[in-house]
Amino acid sequence: MSPAKKSVSTRVKPPKSPYYEVRRSKIQGRGAFAILPIRTGKKIDEYWGQPITHEEADRRYDDSEGRHHTFLFVLDDDTVLDARYGGNDARFINHSCDPNCETVIEDGHIWIKAIKPIKPETELVYDYRFEWQDEYEPEDVRYYACRCGAKKCRGTILRIPVYLRPTIKQWLAGNDVPLPKKPKKGAKNAAKKAVKKAVKKGAKKAVKKGSR
Ligand SMILES: C[S@@+](CC[C@H](N)C(=O)[O-])C[C@H]1O[C@@H](n2cnc3c(N)ncnc32)[C@H](O)[C@@H]1O
Ligand SMILES: [Zn+2]
Repeated sequence: MSPAKKSVSTRVKPPKSPYYEVRRSKIQGRGAFAILPIRTGKKIDEYWGQPITHEEADRRYDDSEGRHHTFLFVLDDDTVLDARYGGNDARFINHSCDPNCETVIEDGHIWIKAIKPIKPETELVYDYRFEWQDEYEPEDVRYYACRCGAKKCRGTILRIPVYLRPTIKQWLAGNDVPLPKKPKKGAKNAAKKAVKKAVKKGAKKAVKKGSR
């Protein structure tokens, strides 16, 4: 096992959170369900797991299985927490594209925080926002299919860059169209400026013509 940062590995496991319990979930496997009303901004629990390096995390979860199932959470550039080992119940919080929680990293701690009032019996969910990799292909996107059931479900647990959203929709529908070119940095601003300039020019012409 790879060595972890001392500052992380010497921490004390948090006590069990009183706000939720683990039950079977419609989303996938087990999930975390509120058992008390939870107010917006409440720190519900801390994500806890074995601190390992990114290399060790890649070795443990090589994505070669038919379905992904991970208990990893990236803490920072050096450390990933693997809740499969020594993790607490926060590892059962599922992903949703319409979440009621978020994760916040503060001073080396990963907190699960409510972003809206949560009633008892509601499943706690946050957006995993798995990072998009440029080499991803249609089967990768389908591998990370989302089953959150939200009206605004984006179909995948991956965080999709805006320019790729229409393409990924097609991929999820089984239509493997090619990826569009990545827009150059600043291309959006340049396009906006060009539109503004054209509008100004048009307005000037209109004024000259006396059409306003
Ligand atoms: C941290 S675990 C969450 C607990 C999990 N339900 C269990 O019983 O072990 C993360 C895994 O749960 C599954 N999962 C969580 N949210 C999901 C979703 N919206 N759609 C599909 N699978 C999901 C995926 O397999 C993911 O890798
Ligand atoms: Zn979803």
